Amino acid sequence: SFPKQVRIVEVGPRDGLQNEPGPIIPTETKVELINRLAAAGVRHIEAASFVSPKWVPQMGDAAAVMAGINRQPGVTYSALTPNLKGIEGAIAAKASEVAVFSAASEAFTQKNINCTIAESLERFVPVIEQAQQAGIRVRGYVSTVLGCPYTGDIAPEQVAAVSRELLDMGCYEISLGDTIGKGTPLKAKKMLEAVARQIPMEKLAAHFHDTYGQALANLYAVLEEGVAVIDSSTAGLGGCPYARGASGNVATEDVLYLLEGLEIETGINLQSVVDTGHWITRELGRHNGSKVAQALGEC
Ligand code: HMG
Ligand code: MG
Repeated sequence: SFPKQVRIVEVGPRDGLQNEPGPIIPTETKVELINRLAAAGVRHIEAASFVSPKWVPQMGDAAAVMAGINRQPGVTYSALTPNLKGIEGAIAAKASEVAVFSAASEAFTQKNINCTIAESLERFVPVIEQAQQAGIRVRGYVSTVLGCPYTGDIAPEQVAAVSRELLDMGCYEISLGDTIGKGTPLKAKKMLEAVARQIPMEKLAAHFHDTYGQALANLYAVLEEGVAVIDSSTAGLGGCPYARGASGNVATEDVLYLLEGLEIETGINLQSVVDTGHWITRELGRHNGSKVAQALGEC
């Protein structure tokens, strides 16, 4: 059955901006985006990524972004940390939470973080240890849960196995990434059922990209199964640099509208997010990927 409340994890400042082509987005713009989202009532914002700037140039100012945020009480400002260098940077920058990321596909893991799935998990052991010593929670991402851009179909059991390992290593929550947005509701449901046989539903999050326009339908399917954490990106910003053709995450505005219709609470003001989406897309000279934002306009 549907949850009564959903926690939105806004990933626009990270997943949204990491893939933005063209010049490096000014640090102040990233900071303002994060501050505006917090003011709209978003309680969990993925703010930055402590990865190699050679791999993801847009995230090269992660420390400056974290330092520039006007931190609000009760808001989690999280960051991606693929290795020890990443976690050291995130702790120094006072990230309130970090995330490690692997995938259900070997080929994708190789392209994204330059190692095998097993190596990535080994690499995360000391990362999680350091985070825990610093009193910081660790989220785990599994990418390509509904398909890989290089090898196609992914067995739900493989998603379940990697998810379970991340949980056993100490991740408090597993975010299931449809990196290339290829999934459909039935597939999403079957994948979730396989994972939920290994992991309690309340520890799972849905992270769906909207490449094929299926993200909202897929979310509806997993909400019905009880998933109560959704990753989304204001104005549908984003993509993944190592997944060709991947478009942005499902738009936060569209998810909020869907949830309001289902009478599911989020604590977030939809119009404020809509305004933020119009502002950031103007700043970036980019199309607003949210249908709801286009329908509601700006206040
Ligand atoms: P590598 O080249 O194998 O690692 O990359 P390395 O240890 O040999 O390091 C290479 C260089 O990077 C060195 O610099 C390091 O110091 C530096 P050099 O000596 O050449 O000058 N370096 C770093 N610098 C800053 N921060 C760090 C860091 N680590 C190394 N943390 C590595 C391995 C993992 C570092 C690299 O592959 C990488 O950074 N990958 C990141 C890829 C990425 O960010 N992808 C997007 C995020 S995942 C995603 O979007 C999916 C998700 O949204 C879910 C979904 O949709 O499915 C989460
Ligand atoms: Mg993503």
